[in-house]
Amino acid sequence: MARKRTFHAAQALRGTVRVPGDKSISHRALMLSALAVGESQIEGLLEGEDVLATAAAMRAMGAEITRGEDDVWRVHGVGVGGLIQPGAALDMGNSGTSTRLLMGLVASHAITATFTGDASLSKRPMARVTAPLSLMGAKFTCSPGGRLPLKVEGACPAVPIEYRLPVASAQVKSAVLLAGLNTPGITRVIEPQATRDHSERMLAGFGARLEVETGADGARIISLHGEAELQPQQIIVPGDPSSAAFLIVAALLVPGSCITIENVGMNATRTGLIAVLRAMGGQIEELNPRIVGGEPVADLRVCASALSGIETDPAIVPSMVDEFPILFVAAALAQGRSILRGLEELRVKESDRISVMAQGLRSIGAHIDEVEDGLIIYGTGGELLPGGATIETHLDHRIAMSFAVAGLVSKKGVTIDDMRPVQTSFPVFEGLLTQLGAQ
Ligand code: S3P
Repeated sequence: MARKRTFHAAQALRGTVRVPGDKSISHRALMLSALAVGESQIEGLLEGEDVLATAAAMRAMGAEITRGEDDVWRVHGVGVGGLIQPGAALDMGNSGTSTRLLMGLVASHAITATFTGDASLSKRPMARVTAPLSLMGAKFTCSPGGRLPLKVEGACPAVPIEYRLPVASAQVKSAVLLAGLNTPGITRVIEPQATRDHSERMLAGFGARLEVETGADGARIISLHGEAELQPQQIIVPGDPSSAAFLIVAALLVPGSCITIENVGMNATRTGLIAVLRAMGGQIEELNPRIVGGEPVADLRVCASALSGIETDPAIVPSMVDEFPILFVAAALAQGRSILRGLEELRVKESDRISVMAQGLRSIGAHIDEVEDGLIIYGTGGELLPGGATIETHLDHRIAMSFAVAGLVSKKGVTIDDMRPVQTSFPVFEGLLTQLGAQ
């Protein structure tokens, strides 16, 4: 049953909240713990459907994973090379990260696994991962268009490769590095544009030998020494900046708001949105900066601000690739025109986020031009959007949450056809909005 909800114009948002654990870090924490020998403990793990799909897959391949009454997750790993043949297809639900990273793990183990997913995931391109993993020796049988359902036959031993990423993608980088863990020799990934570096940080934290250098052309070169032995770790997962993004924009837009979001991950490969919102005039203060579990973290104090339109530099895209849908909402209420381009990757996320956002924003009265690689948005200058429409979320959590926030700054409210996809990444989203005073 769909969860249809209407979000109405809000009074000033106030209070202090914490967002759940980072989704990217949570996936990697489960995967690497499952490959260490001994017990790792994970605190602050995101208990969203995407991460639970990763946990279920790692269990199916031999790891023992339990959640204690103290909310701490305990993982008994099987060791690199020790994954076992899953007894059934691995259901990845809506999660592209689970699928692509786990394909990397399977690619260098002597196992065969079938990956399935929901209607959204089954439309997403997988060739970007099957191409490098095939070079390493894995074999793939894909559905038409290189999509799910898809079968991977791992190569053991796999062949180390040097791979230059043709798209700026942390998922592709991580798939190759994870495959490299059980591959003899050095697996090297070259990324012309830096993407989130959680895999590199966590691999080093678990004791893998990994070097990161900068090439003559400025590219990042990551070299991983294979046949690694991973040591179990105690991991603390910081709050997800990609979830905090929705509350940050809500507080900037709803007049009179001032909120504090505690424990937000501030890894520089993830904070592009904060830089862009500040450049638009957003008041976002970083309090109590600290390092938690090897990642920078801060509390954010965000107060309502008059925003101006902006033109983003395509170079900033990887550091905020998931935050454009909510930036589009901020731009729709800013003063003047925003030019947001270089976003072709948004077309292959959980939905085509350029066209779905353009259609939805138009239906609630925003002025938008859609171009191949982005949107040009003419803002209201702070005036509420008309609202009064129902948005189709296309199984995309970030579409649902972006339009929920748009509803808070609309005259007639915005109805979301189905809030269930939010369970993949931010299950307490509606609860936190209510706690801050939204209707
Ligand atoms: C992720 C990388 C990004 C991002 C996704 C999570 C990750 O995808 O959109 O939500 O955890 O590595 P791409 O690598 O495809 O850009």
